[in-house]
Amino acid sequence: MSSKKANYGIDAPGVIRTLVFCSIGFLLTGLALGFINPYLQFVQHYHFDIRWACFGSTLSLSVSSLLMYNYSTNGKLKHRNRIIDMIEWKGDEKVLDVGTGRGLLMIGAAKKLESGKATGIDIWNDEDLSGNDIENARVNVLRESVSHKTFIKHDDARKMSFADDSFDVVLSNLCLHNIEDKSGRKKAIREIVRVLKPGGIAIISDFKNIDEYVGVFSKEGLKTTTSPKFWKDTFPPLSIIRAEKV
Ligand SMILES: C[S@@+](CC[C@H](N)C(=O)[O-])C[C@H]1O[C@@H](n2cnc3c(N)ncnc32)[C@H](O)[C@@H]1O
Repeated sequence: MSSKKANYGIDAPGVIRTLVFCSIGFLLTGLALGFINPYLQFVQHYHFDIRWACFGSTLSLSVSSLLMYNYSTNGKLKHRNRIIDMIEWKGDEKVLDVGTGRGLLMIGAAKKLESGKATGIDIWNDEDLSGNDIENARVNVLRESVSHKTFIKHDDARKMSFADDSFDVVLSNLCLHNIEDKSGRKKAIREIVRVLKPGGIAIISDFKNIDEYVGVFSKEGLKTTTSPKFWKDTFPPLSIIRAEKV
């Protein structure tokens, strides 16, 4: 086993950077306004102080960036366990992780398998995850000693290359919202349904569009249940949909 730990990256690094820059910008603006005489006269006259709005924005943006960072560095592994524990594993399952990134769910599932196989697909968008690269997914597979139980492939969620009824379990975390158009997200869900075997289970975790995904699964005839949002260790808070192909 490799001595180095797997690194699953920081989600939406550009968003975190923007939140930090904006919070510094608001802080500097608030401080600068404190030194401008005409502004202070304006405050005295109108009893309205924009500096508090600046400091409030600094606080909320910096807390949001810290919570997002904390999800990526701590919460992500807890959330992975939560998703993996929703399946009653037999060990021989064929599993697909849609939008695997650096292999988070694919590797989590592979650890539960004996004769089964976990496949991870992605198009490896830079903006969605730091170090988002097929090579980094391969490095994590080696570090977690699951290379004999995994297969990584460049494939788009909207048009998968697998045959119908290929997988017992389809997993996906924080992938589908990255597909900007509703019709693209619908295609991705319909692809998940197509490649799932009858009796198979899909577990989809995301922070928005939850009702939309449930609507498509239901229209395709799957039985769904949705969890409440997990505020404690995910940010933005994630929900989990469990969909069963009957
Ligand atoms: C925020 S990352 C999450 C990665 C991983 N699931 C995790 O939880 O660490 C979202 C991933 O979805 C992938 N993705 C976005 N659109 C996709 C698409 N149409 N098909 C496959 N993967 C996609 C991105 O490249 C990225 O790796």
